[in-house]
Amino acid sequence: MSNERGTVFSKHLATLLALHLALVSTIYPSIFAEDIHNESNKNFTSKSTSSASTFIEVSNASDGVDPNGYIVYCPCMGRFGNQADQFLGALAFSKSINRTLVLPAWVEYIPYKTGSIQVPFNKYFKPEAILPFHKVITMERFMVDLAPNIWPPEKRYSFCYIQRGNGKGCDAKDGNPFGPFWDNYKVDFVGSEIFGPELHYLSIYKGNGQSTWQEKYPGDTWPVLAFVGPPSGFPVESINVHLQEYLVWQDVIEKKSRDFISSLPKGPFIGIHLRNGADWSRACELVDGTQIHLFSSPQCLGYHQENGKLTSEMCYPSTTTIIKQLRRAIKKINATSVFVASDRNHLITDLNSAFQHMNVAVRKLPYDSPHVDLAILGKSNLFVGNCVSSFSAFVKRSRDVYGFASEFWGYPPDLRRIKNEIRQNELDHDEL
Ligand SMILES: *[C@@H]1O[C@H](CO)[C@@H](O)[C@H](O)[C@H]1NC(C)=O
Ligand SMILES: *[C@@H]1O[C@H](CO)[C@@H](O)[C@H](O)[C@H]1NC(C)=O
Ligand SMILES: *[C@@H]1O[C@H](CO)[C@@H](O)[C@H](O)[C@H]1NC(C)=O
Ligand SMILES: *[C@@H]1O[C@H](CO)[C@@H](O)[C@H](O)[C@H]1NC(C)=O
Ligand SMILES: *[C@@H]1O[C@H](CO)[C@@H](O)[C@H](O)[C@H]1NC(C)=O
Repeated sequence: MSNERGTVFSKHLATLLALHLALVSTIYPSIFAEDIHNESNKNFTSKSTSSASTFIEVSNASDGVDPNGYIVYCPCMGRFGNQADQFLGALAFSKSINRTLVLPAWVEYIPYKTGSIQVPFNKYFKPEAILPFHKVITMERFMVDLAPNIWPPEKRYSFCYIQRGNGKGCDAKDGNPFGPFWDNYKVDFVGSEIFGPELHYLSIYKGNGQSTWQEKYPGDTWPVLAFVGPPSGFPVESINVHLQEYLVWQDVIEKKSRDFISSLPKGPFIGIHLRNGADWSRACELVDGTQIHLFSSPQCLGYHQENGKLTSEMCYPSTTTIIKQLRRAIKKINATSVFVASDRNHLITDLNSAFQHMNVAVRKLPYDSPHVDLAILGKSNLFVGNCVSSFSAFVKRSRDVYGFASEFWGYPPDLRRIKNEIRQNELDHDEL
């Protein structure tokens, strides 16, 4: 069963990378929170349990090296939303086999440029906020302080589930962002270690998978497991959703988000995410009413698909749907403004003309920063996001930490309208 799942997963890895299509785990217990409708949330107090103001190096063996070893990986799939999603699984994996997690850089792509850039993990998030859950160290510190001793160049093996690329092994540096990521740390590999099909990173959730990892790769002979991609599924397993609480924004981002919020008209505001770039409309064309899941859709449809089927309005809502749903939301919380985050079209003109008469201001950030967007959305009085999007999923998870309310476009689907459409279709056919 474990092998089967592993094979299924890796077969689709290529698809995932190419099309960003997501397969979803339906075999793990679902404890995913339902949407919480709570209008009274204005508590922006950080829930971070960490009081440390400086980043403590964690591995506290006497010489500062974790005897259980380290996990290094390239967040080589998707953009920020995907990377943050898979980070949670990687964190759970590291904790499960009790190795220190080396916090990788975020991989970013510059529009109209080839290649990628690597942004240190701690530019956006506080590593010390993760410590109450598990031992971590940034990749930058790891490479400088520890790698020369425990991971010298001749011991650098890359780990993968199955052979990839054109070679016989993991071909860890084949393609973008794979090559640029490791090059950023001047890492070359001397060989490959293929751990599948008997072992898979999802094995930790089954039987004795956890100890199998530890027995096959003990810390003393394998101090560093360097994975070609994140050792986690996508989207995040339901049991790991709550780990979002350890992703705490750096003060700079936190401050920018508060500054923006204080520039809004007095009163409650709604945060919305409009995912409508060209890549997205192409992905949503695949939604034909038969899909089980796409990308992050388990966040509203449930990990066992217990909340219905995906509709194209959920994936790419029409402007009419957006305005209708937003009008309801505005009335519900007496909102005085709407904050829009989008990867392409913020619909500012449409929304302003729709809500002017209600005295509701529609705003976006005056500069480009998806991370500040996320921080603001996380603090809104009500969030309406895209159920399919991993960017929206980041917001939803971070709000769940505080019990803040979130909704999704086109969800729950308007069953009456769908029924009418079906009836209309039948009538049309009858007339043919
Ligand atoms: C709504 O939020 C308030 C304050 O955070 C909390 O006391 C209350 O229990 C919440 N209600 C629901 C239904 O979650
Ligand atoms: C906000 O949350 C913090 C920690 O969760 C709690 O101590 C504080 O009382 C809350 N404040 C309000 C106004 O609910
Ligand atoms: C970790 O090690 C440092 C020095 O190596 C020591 O000062 C510190 O007290 C240790 N922390 C814990 C929690 O053992
Ligand atoms: C995990 O590893 C640390 C050393 O990094 C050790 O102190 C701790 O006891 C281990 N935890 C478990 C549950 O084995
Ligand atoms: C919205 O405003 C109306 C009229 O002022 C008021 O009756 C209602 O309780 C308010 N609703 C919320 C959720 O604050």
